[in-house]
Amino acid sequence: VSFTLAHLSDVHLAHVPRGDVLSNFQIKRIIGGASWFFRRSRVHRLLIANAIRQSILDARTDHVALTGDLVNIAGWHEFPKAAQWLKDFALPDKLSFIPGNHDTYVEVPWKKGLEFLAPWMQPDVLSKDPDTLHFPYLRLRRNVALIGLNSGSPQKLHRASGTLGEQQRRDLKLLLDHLGQQGFFRIVMIHHPPLPGLATPRKALTDAAALADVLQGSGCELVLHGHNHTATLNWHGSIPVVGVPSASLQGDIRHEAAGWNHYTIRRNLGRWTTELTPYRWNDGEQQVNRQATIMLLPPS
Ligand SMILES: [Fe+2]
Repeated sequence: VSFTLAHLSDVHLAHVPRGDVLSNFQIKRIIGGASWFFRRSRVHRLLIANAIRQSILDARTDHVALTGDLVNIAGWHEFPKAAQWLKDFALPDKLSFIPGNHDTYVEVPWKKGLEFLAPWMQPDVLSKDPDTLHFPYLRLRRNVALIGLNSGSPQKLHRASGTLGEQQRRDLKLLLDHLGQQGFFRIVMIHHPPLPGLATPRKALTDAAALADVLQGSGCELVLHGHNHTATLNWHGSIPVVGVPSASLQGDIRHEAAGWNHYTIRRNLGRWTTELTPYRWNDGEQQVNRQATIMLLPPS
């Protein structure tokens, strides 16, 4: 029996209403909006995001992990549209979302922002207060444990960094220890690259070193992240740390083309095996192509 999972990230959905830039005035949003209209909107395309989504739907995976940056400047009109895009994708219990730095670009009231995406971030056991989200959240699917972290928080101008903070790192450790003893395949989802040195200081997770210690000490079977818009595979001891490209980039000299990753997780004779099959957008063919499958085996 296998468990299949699709991982995508950094969709940067291509509808930023001009009014969103000016309403609820924030200087960071003004500059981010300008950057969107004059630069980023040319390379992040809704047509590609929709093709990636369809490719995942066609693969009929057991679950979908979406590691943040669904929107661009956290504009008030972006959130309901993002929620509709998710509704057309998967039921909340079939897709697990976590915020990225663009989903928390500026301070946004709960009701105007993340509440729209909250159904896809609910833990199996609902919290008492429906108006807040708790991270890490935990979702168990058969013998797979999905753990969602939130590294997004409003940053100063020109910064795209993130932080987990002590509470999330401590709760993550408790979860990993407990789930490890129970024999679950533990998947940690985080927007920012989780290890030191995987992102420039301007874009990095500020407590990556402390997170790396938690992962090392408690163990986990797979870490999924986005943010860098590139496909990467790093090993943290025996833990594979896999970054996926953006799900909407057209691809050119400066940008890696869009894609998503397909995982097949199996329990064989008391050991886990993980297969990774990349799917990538081909702009010439205007379609998503499946690439060769690799087995994730730690370097010896
Ligand atoms: Fe990001």
